Amino acid sequence: MDKNRSIAIDGPAGAGKSTIAKLVAKKIDYIYVDTGAMYRTIALYLMRNNVDENDEVKVAEAIKDIKVSLDYVDETQIVLLNGENVNDFIRTPEVSRITSLIAKYAAVREKLLDLQRNLAVEKKVIMDGRDIGTNVLPNAFLKIYLTASADARANRRYKELVEKNETCDFESIKKDIIARDEQDMNREIAPLKQAEDAVLVDTSDMGIEEVVACLVEIYEKKCAE
Ligand code: DC
Repeated sequence: MDKNRSIAIDGPAGAGKSTIAKLVAKKIDYIYVDTGAMYRTIALYLMRNNVDENDEVKVAEAIKDIKVSLDYVDETQIVLLNGENVNDFIRTPEVSRITSLIAKYAAVREKLLDLQRNLAVEKKVIMDGRDIGTNVLPNAFLKIYLTASADARANRRYKELVEKNETCDFESIKKDIIARDEQDMNREIAPLKQAEDAVLVDTSDMGIEEVVACLVEIYEKKCAE
């Protein structure tokens, strides 16, 4: 058993992993690790330096010497690119698009694997991503596969953007979500899939607090085993 009782949360884009994992972490006194932010940081670097994201050899070469690291300020994860806090730059649609493409490259995944595994050795983490239960932390204490229908996920994203007064179109958001699912689930290395020993939680018809309570209950049951 994982001596640190790490928790792995995997699932498709927009299933609510980060929102839920952050809240669960607070309730059970864990550190939340957002691995997607690390992949996004590499994509940002490539975008800033005009490296063609479709050219695997060039991408591998370009990222050899960059440093991605994490820090925590007021319990918020900060991702650093060569020491610069890039939290505010990694959530744009363009970075999302590039991230999904480059996350399939071996050199990109290898670059982040040790960093992710080491975090779980040092701290009690709840880590979210696509391959945490299957690849990064195969011995995690608890594995959750958090999912929701494409409609439910697109609808949440649509509401978020409307609240921010951003112009958006439901159908194109849904199309993007389905395209990212395709990329993440069908790549050769570390594709998104439910680990055999993961608990499936479908959040399509659940509110945030309901999902948080459900996960805390699963965790407490597991601790009592
Ligand atoms: O969770 P997110 O939306 O921030 O992830 C951004 C992209 O990174 C997503 O397309 C899948 C990829 N990713 C991955 O391949 N493996 C992870 N452990 C986390 C994210």
